[in-house]
Amino acid sequence: MIRTEHIIKRYALSGQPVEALRGISLHIRPGEYAAIVGPSGSGKSTLMNILGCLDRPSEGAYYLHGRDVSTLTPEELAQVRGREIGFVFQGYQLLPRLTAIENVALPLILCGVPVQQRLARAEALLTRVGLGHRLRHLPGQLSGGQQQRVAIARALIRNPAVLLADEPTGNLDAIATQEVLSLMDELHREGRTIVLITHDDMVAQRAQRQLCIAAGRLTEVGDVSRVPSDSAWAEAALSSSF
Ligand SMILES: Nc1ncnc2c1ncn2[C@@H]1O[C@H](COP(=O)(O)OP(=O)(O)OP(=O)(O)O)[C@@H](O)[C@H]1O
Ligand SMILES: [Mg+2]
Repeated sequence: MIRTEHIIKRYALSGQPVEALRGISLHIRPGEYAAIVGPSGSGKSTLMNILGCLDRPSEGAYYLHGRDVSTLTPEELAQVRGREIGFVFQGYQLLPRLTAIENVALPLILCGVPVQQRLARAEALLTRVGLGHRLRHLPGQLSGGQQQRVAIARALIRNPAVLLADEPTGNLDAIATQEVLSLMDELHREGRTIVLITHDDMVAQRAQRQLCIAAGRLTEVGDVSRVPSDSAWAEAALSSSF
């Protein structure tokens, strides 16, 4: 579903380039639920922007659904993004003057779906996320957890191949966090491919697979091939004591 090969992302900052991603090779299979954990500044959002086709890598290849998208023009990327990716952000990013159902239906306007169909699909999805009784509420009239569930419904409206969530519980209290994570669990059981980005280990533990990002490099948690063996530790200890 997602395959990256040695992705590097450099930002040119007043002549002094910053290497935010330093060779990311990642494979996410269809139906997988993966969490990427890392501290602030480690490159999580940079990676999410590339996986979500919001940005392009400086080097390396990115295959989404089998297609190399690392060299597409911004217009082509926008099309792929609309079709293949559903986004969930920390700050929900709902339009404040639109009701819940209008927010969820919005992405379908761009693909020319007639209004009755749009609203019917949005209503079904809002019901699916437990908000069938809040269709006509504005975002400001909903709790944070409810707003995030509206945002998840909106992310699903075009039936994307991958759901990408960047700190989806970052603004939520403990109860709302559990609600959103339970919803993620259900979507995973239904076969959705989910990549969740977080700095919170507890949140990451809910995913099926955990990856760590630090200073632009990614490692698989529990990948024994990367953990030094006992004999390597012993050798290192010996060589440092002589
Ligand atoms: N547009 C940019 N121009 C220059 N440098 C950038 C830009 N965006 C990010 N960076 C740098 O790249 C590195 C990774 O940033 P990124 O936003 O991906 O981190 P993050 O893991 O998402 O952090 P946080 O948890 O705080 O959101 C940081 O050192 C940051 O300063
Ligand atoms: Mg970030």
